[in-house]
Amino acid sequence: MKILFKNIKGLLQTLDNSIEYLDGHQMKKLSKINNAFLLIEDDQIIDYGIMNDSPTVDVDKVIDVKERFILPAWCDSHTHLVFSESREDEFVDRISGLSYQEIAKKGGGILNSAKKLQEETFEKLYLKSALRLEEVMKLGTGAIEIKSGYGLELSAEIKMLKVIDKLSKNYDALIQPTFLAAHAVPKEYFDKKDLFISKIINQWIPKVSEMKLANYIDVFCEKGYFNIEETRSIINAGKDHGLIPKIHVNQFNSFGGVPLCVDLDSLTIDHLEVLNDQDINAIKKGNTMPVALPNCSFFLNIPYTSARKIMDNNIPLAIASDYNPGSAPSGNMNFVVSLACSKMGMSPEEAINAATINGAYAMGLSKKAGSITKGKKANLIITKEIPSYSMIPYSFGSNLIDEVYINGKPLLNT
Ligand code: NIG
Ligand code: FE
Repeated sequence: MKILFKNIKGLLQTLDNSIEYLDGHQMKKLSKINNAFLLIEDDQIIDYGIMNDSPTVDVDKVIDVKERFILPAWCDSHTHLVFSESREDEFVDRISGLSYQEIAKKGGGILNSAKKLQEETFEKLYLKSALRLEEVMKLGTGAIEIKSGYGLELSAEIKMLKVIDKLSKNYDALIQPTFLAAHAVPKEYFDKKDLFISKIINQWIPKVSEMKLANYIDVFCEKGYFNIEETRSIINAGKDHGLIPKIHVNQFNSFGGVPLCVDLDSLTIDHLEVLNDQDINAIKKGNTMPVALPNCSFFLNIPYTSARKIMDNNIPLAIASDYNPGSAPSGNMNFVVSLACSKMGMSPEEAINAATINGAYAMGLSKKAGSITKGKKANLIITKEIPSYSMIPYSFGSNLIDEVYINGKPLLNT
């Protein structure tokens, strides 16, 4: 099936296939072709350019895009979309003054989600997660990373990872599974954390890797959760089993987690709401991409990641939703892009780059997604009629998406 999109007002993020990500300075520019055409065949982009060069090949369908823009679908490189129940009671507790950490201490937070997930059947968990995935796909997400981490026991972790696996088989979005092996310490291990960690290292990681249920390994490296040495051992065990690190670090405290992650050659370091100059220097020396999660800052009322400091040091940056029931109960990447601009001082160009090509890199998908490139997946957002692409972050809370194509197929009008 060949589809020709013609008269595109602006075709955004057209990149050569050699580009895997854009560094901080390159992010200032968003490539764009005015009055463009785009040709897709089945699930792939096969050609694009200015309208004058539009091919005269036989196609199955011609779509006149007119005053609308086309951009690559969002690449959301950090989510916890598989969970059982919402946690709006904790939200209300926070409004009346309790902190995220205080709620966690009372048995809320991750332990609360784990209890509910352990009790949930596979089928129900799958159906709830599938609804969330459908919602974010309609909001323009074409590639997504999904973590485990609410199991806190091996069988429940495997249940989560199998849900992620089933989603990736049943949906056209590109899905990357991450084993968030160490998200919190279960109550029964409070006074024997070492035993819990040795189970993760000696039983859980080998099992998950043998079952081929994850590509990435993650740890919540934070005071009160997992310290530097614990994070190092778990991540190294994951690496020994072929899992690539993507690590939660510096959400509330900077205590050496960033240099550790750089040393471990983590693909990404995620959160970084607290980021000091030593951290920036460590990132500059390594190959690790920072991922900012503005939804989490917004929802928990904590600082936003210093995007300007990162990008002005020519470090690449991705932005992601962190969709989860505790700190970011929304997977809307359009809102993430808006927050990146209005709260983190990113320009629309920087934010769109961070949510597309850099997001794709942050989950190992930059050969398949994140840009308008020949041979990449036809995962596309077609906007409504808008005067300029800056409207996307500007019109926060409004849905400016007219149509989403995932794998070359339209989502909304079918
Ligand atoms: O990325 N910080 C750790 N994990 C999640 C939140 C987990 C939760 O509160 O359920 C996050 O923010
Ligand atoms: Fe997270």
